Amino acid sequence: MIIAIDGPAASGKGTLGKRLAEHFGFAHLDTGLLYRAVARVLMERSIPLTDRDAAAQAAQNLDVSHLEDDSRLRGAAMGEAASVVSAYQPVRDALLAFQRQFGAQEPGAVLDGRDIGTVVCPDAEVKLFITAAPEERARRRHRELLSRGEQAEYETILLDIRRRDERDMSRSTAPLKPAADAMTLDTTHLDADGTFRAALDLVERKRPAKVGR
Ligand code: CDP
Ligand code: CDP
Repeated sequence: MIIAIDGPAASGKGTLGKRLAEHFGFAHLDTGLLYRAVARVLMERSIPLTDRDAAAQAAQNLDVSHLEDDSRLRGAAMGEAASVVSAYQPVRDALLAFQRQFGAQEPGAVLDGRDIGTVVCPDAEVKLFITAAPEERARRRHRELLSRGEQAEYETILLDIRRRDERDMSRSTAPLKPAADAMTLDTTHLDADGTFRAALDLVERKRPAKVGR
């Protein structure tokens, strides 16, 4: 059983993915961390993000353990850098097998990202496309950064989010878009609890008998 969650930056994919995974006893993978980790390898070695070969090599050799505990992967700069290297096809190819293996776990897995329903797990039983207005997403990210004690300007975050969305949607390889069979959930006026309840309703409507521990 695979639950695929896609959507733009700060729409609440990760928060929802974690909640759904806990609810069903599934494993959860935030696939954005993989692209962030590739970007970090280049940045740490002072290799320009435009070096496609180096990015592909970093993706092939990536240590995928403990990414969720690595605070250096969080933050706006790494998200922006991830969006640059994620547009390279060989980078995406190198990360595909790991994501598919993750999705094959029993009793199930939740993966969130940009292309889970379209490319990584096109046969996922449940596909959710999570959206929210850019202004609301910027407010959420702003709040998140301030609560971690980081300096952040709302207007700068909004510009970053718009630019990243545009790049993710317009790239030729695995662009951000809902799969044809995805259910879209607009969370502009929903908090994390409301989003979880609405998503659970969609999941259970889709797989009434088979979902659950
Ligand atoms: O994974 P993604 O970038 O899509 O978003 P996230 O990291 O799950 O959520 C970004 C921030 O928005 C977090 O601080 C969440 O707690 C918050 N959030 C929210 O305020 N309302 C929601 N409906 C979902 C998330
Ligand atoms: O948390 P947030 O939504 O801000 O970003 P993320 O999910 O960590 O993703 C960072 C960047 O990685 C995105 O802007 C995408 O360019 C890329 N990404 C991707 O191309 N495909 C995925 N499945 C996940 C992330």
